[in-house]
Amino acid sequence: MLVTDRLILRPWREEDREPFAALNADADVMRYFPSVQTRAQSDATIDRQMKAQAEVGYCFWATEKRDSGQFIGFIGIQDVPDYYGIGDGIEIGWRLAANAWGQGLAPEGARACLAFAFSKLQAPEVVAFTAKVNGPSMRVMEKIGMTRDQGGDFDHPMIEEGHPIRPHVLYRIGAEDMR
Ligand SMILES: CC(C)(COP(=O)(O)OP(=O)(O)OC[C@H]1O[C@@H](n2cnc3c(N)ncnc32)[C@H](O)[C@@H]1OP(=O)(O)O)[C@@H](O)C(=O)NCCC(=O)NCCS
Repeated sequence: MLVTDRLILRPWREEDREPFAALNADADVMRYFPSVQTRAQSDATIDRQMKAQAEVGYCFWATEKRDSGQFIGFIGIQDVPDYYGIGDGIEIGWRLAANAWGQGLAPEGARACLAFAFSKLQAPEVVAFTAKVNGPSMRVMEKIGMTRDQGGDFDHPMIEEGHPIRPHVLYRIGAEDMR
């Protein structure tokens, strides 16, 4: 569990399934994804995160506000899935409910994740990637000190050719870059 000024990042619980499904069914939240998700798809994401937490001790953590206990989405780290073809490493990622946007919560949680990756896991580097059109996510990467890998653009392997969210950008931060 990671605690910041305003957030708690923690393993998933059964009661997160309902609010997470609502967030994944919101077209605004899923604007830069191929589609909104069904309850089954949303549950499968939670199942994968629970498995990762059990196996390696980290995941895209369920994230709640400290003041209210409100579940707002996820912020966390995972091993980069092989199918992206961008090599091994640790990836940082985030997805928050729209009513939590614009308060710097994603960067706040993400900074704690970077500290965890570099100090606890001794990771040499953390990467992040998103659709080239996902300005808000790229802003979070920049705010936490990540740098775009200019040669690292790639096409998302699961998204069809010609789709606007197929081209992806890659950002990196090394342990030595943490100030
Ligand atoms: C990306 C995301 C996690 C950012 O979280 P956040 O806590 O709002 O981050 P910030 O408050 O630092 O805002 C980051 C940028 O989001 C944009 N933004 C802020 N509030 C916004 C709002 N209400 N509506 C749309 N965009 C907004 C701004 O570009 C902002 O940059 P700025 O601070 O330089 O103006 C959030 O927008 C989100 O969950 N989006 C949907 C899921 C997603 O795309 N995840 C990433 C997939 S790779």
